[in-house]
Amino acid sequence: MRIQWGEQFITGHGLVDHQHEALFAAINEFDLALEAGLAPQRMDEMLAFLERYAREHFVTEEFLMVRADYPSLALHKTEHERLLLRVKFIRELRDQDPSLVPPEGLGKFLGDWLTNHILTWDLAVFEYLKEHPVEA
Ligand SMILES: [Fe+2]
Ligand SMILES: [Fe+2]
Repeated sequence: MRIQWGEQFITGHGLVDHQHEALFAAINEFDLALEAGLAPQRMDEMLAFLERYAREHFVTEEFLMVRADYPSLALHKTEHERLLLRVKFIRELRDQDPSLVPPEGLGKFLGDWLTNHILTWDLAVFEYLKEHPVEA
């Protein structure tokens, strides 16, 4: 399943939008690689990259939320941590034995997570920030 970047995902924050777009691209690339049946080692590298990049992106968002004293920070952060834990768990299981986690469905899971998370959680943050701007 390919996810399509579009204006419904725009938060208006340049760096965050750039990171989201890069995450779309990374997930689509991963999904294409799954379809093409790439070597497990290459898949693991792509998964590790996604995990690292997502972690970096979450730090950016959490910093903005902390700075603005965002009311739902703890819940939002938990959503980020749950995804990271899940990806880490998948990666570790694959390290033990790739047949434990068949790759089918992984791309869809990641794509669904990202699109739902942006629409449900991230857009709300940037709405709040527009209404409660933080002094530099
Ligand atoms: Fe995000
Ligand atoms: Fe988020």
